[in-house]
Amino acid sequence: MKKLCVSELLGSRTLDALRPIRRQERLRLVATLNEAAARGTIIDVSEELHKASNNGIIRMVTGMSDGGGVHEVRGLVKGVAETIGTLNLSDFVWVLRGVDVRGIKRRIDEVHRRFDEVLERIIGRKEEERRRGGGGGLGRAKDLLDILLEVAEDEKAEFKLTRENIKGFVLDIFTAGSDTTAAVLEWALSELINNPTIQHKAQQELDSVVGKHRLVEESDVPNLPYLQSIVKETLRLHPPAPISHRIATRDVKILDYDVPADTIVFVNMWSLHRDPDHWVNPLEFRPERFEDRVAEEKQKNLLHYAPFGGGRRGCPGASLGLDVLHMTLASLVQCFEWEVVGGRVDMEEGVGLTLPRENPLVCLPRVRLNPFPYNIHG
Ligand code: HEM
Repeated sequence: MKKLCVSELLGSRTLDALRPIRRQERLRLVATLNEAAARGTIIDVSEELHKASNNGIIRMVTGMSDGGGVHEVRGLVKGVAETIGTLNLSDFVWVLRGVDVRGIKRRIDEVHRRFDEVLERIIGRKEEERRRGGGGGLGRAKDLLDILLEVAEDEKAEFKLTRENIKGFVLDIFTAGSDTTAAVLEWALSELINNPTIQHKAQQELDSVVGKHRLVEESDVPNLPYLQSIVKETLRLHPPAPISHRIATRDVKILDYDVPADTIVFVNMWSLHRDPDHWVNPLEFRPERFEDRVAEEKQKNLLHYAPFGGGRRGCPGASLGLDVLHMTLASLVQCFEWEVVGGRVDMEEGVGLTLPRENPLVCLPRVRLNPFPYNIHG
């Protein structure tokens, strides 16, 4: 599954083919913020970022157009993330074993049943389309489900994918791929609002590389090193998957610890990314640290900078995640000036799987560059 994921599903060919979907979602986000700016009203930017990120992933996986179906799936994905993130007392307190203290098991069963129903409907529709000779051939790019169904039907495939495998996989991608990128974008924008000098430097870079008459595009990113450093620095201070785990398959030494075989090892990236022995002023948001070579070397020390984990179980969605982060953040910085009530954004961390903000980021955007009218389908 991992090989399939890295080489096919989230590989560069598929990501290139699905680029128009990501671009459409980015333009839709800019348009929504533009409307708020025109009305002069504040807007819950956190909510809009999660919506754009979830819609993008759902559409890339299922090929759904942006009608009501996406909205329904988004509600379900939210339900799954909430149940995963809920502390279940009976998992921790022995005497409560088997007792559904907070109704969590009932909620999980309900979310599971509804999710299964919707996925069956989506897969059924796709199978019908494939029987009629479609499956990516009806004038649209193959989505991830098309690829999975193709593998499932392939007699010569290295392994046989079951229906359960496919559904589990889709769920994995939905949950691993949407809230993570949205959470990083919330933090990145919060840091930029609180650090106007850094925001200004990013705007200057965009103005000199892209200009003031068109929206930033993917091909610009290699020429935007400061923007890339801002994304790296945000992933250092606010990693959205802050804890990784492994089981030792043999006796090993990790840092100063002797770890016997079969031990479960948790790696706390949140702490390692802020380790004062490895980073100068670790709590300071300073993208420039990624511009000097010493820091670049430190990056290579996987344990002190590993926002995407590493090794065989490292994140297969890293390229996709970085692409969405660069493009969305660049558009937010290029198109808007940002104001918040009280002048500063509070930086309190909340509880949750993706190290989210405690409070939503609510801002008043002011238009800096209006890319519209723009061909949203281009
Ligand atoms: C900013 C965005 C993202 C970050 C920071 C991130 C981070 C991570 C981390 C730290 C892990 C655990 C790796 C390990 O234990 O070594 C992981 C696993 C995973 N991620 Fe991501 N991720 C992001 C976006 C995505 C996206 C967009 C997708 C898919 C569309 C995705 C799919 C997955 C999957 C399927 C796994 C499990 C891999 C396995 O168990 O082998 N991630 N991610």
